[in-house]
Amino acid sequence: MKQILMTGVGAYLPEGILTNDELSKFLDTDDNWIRQRTGIVSRRKANPEELTSDLAVKAAHQALKKSGVAISDIDCIILATTTPDYTFPSTATIVQQKLGAENAFAFDVQAVCAGFVYALSVANGLMSSGQSNNALVIGAETFTKLLDWEDRSTCVLFGDGAGAVVLQAENSKLGYGIIANKLYSDGRYKDILYVDGGVSKTGTVGHVKMRGRDVFKHAVEKLATAMDEVLTLANLTPSDIDWLVPHQANIRIINAMQKKLNLPDEKVIKTVSEHANTSAASIPLALNYGVESGKIKPGHLLALEAIGGGLSWGASLVRYGRPV
Ligand code: ACO
Repeated sequence: MKQILMTGVGAYLPEGILTNDELSKFLDTDDNWIRQRTGIVSRRKANPEELTSDLAVKAAHQALKKSGVAISDIDCIILATTTPDYTFPSTATIVQQKLGAENAFAFDVQAVCAGFVYALSVANGLMSSGQSNNALVIGAETFTKLLDWEDRSTCVLFGDGAGAVVLQAENSKLGYGIIANKLYSDGRYKDILYVDGGVSKTGTVGHVKMRGRDVFKHAVEKLATAMDEVLTLANLTPSDIDWLVPHQANIRIINAMQKKLNLPDEKVIKTVSEHANTSAASIPLALNYGVESGKIKPGHLLALEAIGGGLSWGASLVRYGRPV
């Protein structure tokens, strides 16, 4: 059976940097509050004319270059986003056109902050069943366009960016590439984190609404269970993990997960201070940082986990790169 290898990672952050101090100039907040509660110091903000698809294309180009796969060989593009360019068509098809990936089918996945883990799992299924050999999986967001800049309890938390990976189905050593995925949802919690607009309900785009404390509690509890279950599925234990690459929403959630898994600082990728919460882009952005900084190397076991609106959450285990 073919393994679904992760052979390239790329990312892109918009140039505009918005610091906590800059936020405090127009909002009743301060650097100390934001840092202490969230670990965030600054975030990137796309220009009004910079679209989610633009960020995604830049990240995809990098991932393709690293993997050595030609655009013409990409046969599937899955893009996780909550901030699409248009209501339709999917942003993935816009990315397909901008990349010139003429041999790919393309679609979006909407699972908010859990979007990348969902997209990875969907790609794994498509590739394992022979429907794709070379896939691009992208998480891209212009989340700052969805915020109420007068609501200090939400607007300080998010940022923009994109990350991408190339997946290749190859006859390879067992235990490489995507090893296991677990996905979960519980729609009973839709009111603790949602956007108060939508085509069907209001005909408007809306803004993010959140009961932060409730989300925090569910995040720690549910991510810990997801990680337990995905490790059990793969017959592995926390001590097998080389790098935890968590969704970057809040440093306190990340630290709680680190503690539950008993992992030292040297095994956890943390980018929330500079990226803030970039929703579906957060894991591939962190992954790219890990690879570019030389921390993540081929053969390392990566544990990915994320939770977001829905609630939707999940975890994946991936042995990065090609067999060494
Ligand atoms: N600056 C200053 N004060 C603020 C700010 C701000 N930006 N935002 C809220 N406050 C005030 C509140 O008004 C409140 O004041 P009050 O006591 O006078 O009423 C006080 O700070 C405490 O507010 P809480 O919401 O109780 O603060 P908490 O300690 O829970 O921290 C936070 C809030 C950071 C949102 C936290 O609950 C959290 O991180 N939750 C997780 C949510 C999350 O990460 N969501 C992202 C999307 S989901 C995901 O990706 C997991």
